[in-house]
Amino acid sequence: MKELELLYEGSSKQIYKTDCDDHVVVRFKDHTSAFYNIKRAIIEHKGRLTCEISSMVLEYLNSQNINTHFVERVGADGQLCRVVEHIPVEVIVRNVVAGSMAKRLGLDEGIIPQNTIFDLCLRRSDLGDPLINDHHAVALGLLSYEELAKMYEMSASINKCLIELYDKVGITVVDFKIEFGRTSDGTLVLADELSPDTCRLWDKATGERMDKDRFRRDLGRVRETYEEVAERLHNVLK
Ligand code: TMP
Repeated sequence: MKELELLYEGSSKQIYKTDCDDHVVVRFKDHTSAFYNIKRAIIEHKGRLTCEISSMVLEYLNSQNINTHFVERVGADGQLCRVVEHIPVEVIVRNVVAGSMAKRLGLDEGIIPQNTIFDLCLRRSDLGDPLINDHHAVALGLLSYEELAKMYEMSASINKCLIELYDKVGITVVDFKIEFGRTSDGTLVLADELSPDTCRLWDKATGERMDKDRFRRDLGRVRETYEEVAERLHNVLK
């Protein structure tokens, strides 16, 4: 596989064409942003760390028979991924109340709801990625009710795998955001990263935040905490 020209550059990733039409290389950048680009920074080694963590997690999901776009890691900060037709929605899976859910519903962070919560959001950063429901998604022509059912089923399986994996390293999976795509034969696959940039991860022993909230809330030690997550996962997966 040969890496060719840059196809797309976003706030935290670059996508490169390859000599194989079915695959792209996704490169993770050190740039980070929050609150729709209002807060920005460059965190040294973040690209490598989020790539490393996401590669370990997606490889683990592949091994658990969950379809993902991930093929293999390419260098320190890259992943070879299958080309997919991206579906412009986000699923947010919540095991513990935190973040926007706590704010929107006036709840304390840390409450454990009696059931897993699945939020559906439209990917429109100009509108603040608004919360929608299944009927909006179908009416907007984004996906069918059958695909929605499959997407929630996969999200629940991903959640189960993440909880089991992170439990082994003393971390609670509070919530996470995922996106999906369709391969050329229409198969639904997870087409996103799963790293401390897109998950809330709390240390079980201390309650310390081990995710991007350290950057969002100026808690410091962002890189060091991501390194700790990578090291703990490495110890159980390699
Ligand atoms: P929220 O509480 O701000 O809605 O975030 C829920 C989870 O989703 C949290 O783990 C952070 C993640 N997330 C992203 O990865 N990207 C986003 O654009 C947003 C809004 C949340």
